[in-house]
Amino acid sequence: MNIEVCELSKSFGDTKALDRISFFLPEGAIVGFVGPNGAGKTTAIRIMAGLEQPDSGKVMLGNLNMIEYPDQVRAQIGFMPDSMPDSDVIRVWEYLDFYARAFGLRGQAKSSAISRVAEFTNLASLPDKMLSELSKGMKQQVSLARVLLHDPKILLLDEPAAGLDPRARIELRACLVKLAQEGKTIFISSHVLSDLDDIATGAVIIEKGKIVSHGKLTDLSASAAGEFCRIVLSLLELNEQILEQINGLELVESAIKSSNKQIMVKIKGGTANYHSAMVQIFMTGLPIIRTERPDAGIEEIFLKSTKGEVN
Ligand SMILES: Nc1ncnc2c1ncn2[C@@H]1O[C@H](COP(=O)(O)OP(=O)(O)OP(=O)(O)O)[C@@H](O)[C@H]1O
Ligand SMILES: [Mg+2]
Repeated sequence: MNIEVCELSKSFGDTKALDRISFFLPEGAIVGFVGPNGAGKTTAIRIMAGLEQPDSGKVMLGNLNMIEYPDQVRAQIGFMPDSMPDSDVIRVWEYLDFYARAFGLRGQAKSSAISRVAEFTNLASLPDKMLSELSKGMKQQVSLARVLLHDPKILLLDEPAAGLDPRARIELRACLVKLAQEGKTIFISSHVLSDLDDIATGAVIIEKGKIVSHGKLTDLSASAAGEFCRIVLSLLELNEQILEQINGLELVESAIKSSNKQIMVKIKGGTANYHSAMVQIFMTGLPIIRTERPDAGIEEIFLKSTKGEVN
């Protein structure tokens, strides 16, 4: 199921949190929602989840307008907030049981929904623990499990990767890819931009309540590459002297060692200087065996699109 945000605006007093934002998330896509602190991400996600009313604009889920059919729309949406559950009197299974009931599940349907999400999010060892006993990563697992209980078609995840260790991040990414393969549409806000690079098919970039760019990652990446041009050089050998030599070239903004025998070079002035920079690099006569030009990732698209301004 796809979701369309049309001209949404929302103010809090004098603060214009969202200023006529519009974008479209196609079915099965994983779209990153990226922007600086205070850009309006949480506000937009909360409106899309039906938890907050916009001042104007609408959210369409397929053909359904969220304002006109709030219950039908909400049944299709799983919202994971940026704050995690906490309680020293509620156990994991009680928490899931409560939400399963809230979604109208009873008896066998309820038990099988809880087992399904517990298995999917790897909660096997946790059901009897109190929520307050869980680590941040475990809380996030429980929160994701809760979101999946009613098998929603659309997942709205507000910074699900924040504070997770590398392994937990990888596991979360694997979960999200599986969910997208099942046809779920996933909208995920994050500051950990590299987390989204591998899995996102698109990005919506927001700053000061306005969308500054959105689209397929490949298209955004091609346009960002204009300003951010990098080359990876693989060499037969690599030492400090060689690194210094590359760093000293006129058209090289920076050159850093990216692995044992590889250097990541950032070109001054971007794509326009790519060919001249390559000539300078080869004129050094260094033992370069391969050159590669990686696509611009979400991080570069983000840096290119935003100015670092907040409300
Ligand atoms: N309930 C509220 N009352 C008053 N102002 C609010 C409220 N919620 C959000 N704002 C303001 O709206 C703007 C957008 O906030 P929002 O939380 O949507 O940003 P965000 O992009 O999620 O930021 P972060 O990356 O820090 O989570 C901010 O200026 C914020 O102060
Ligand atoms: Mg937020």
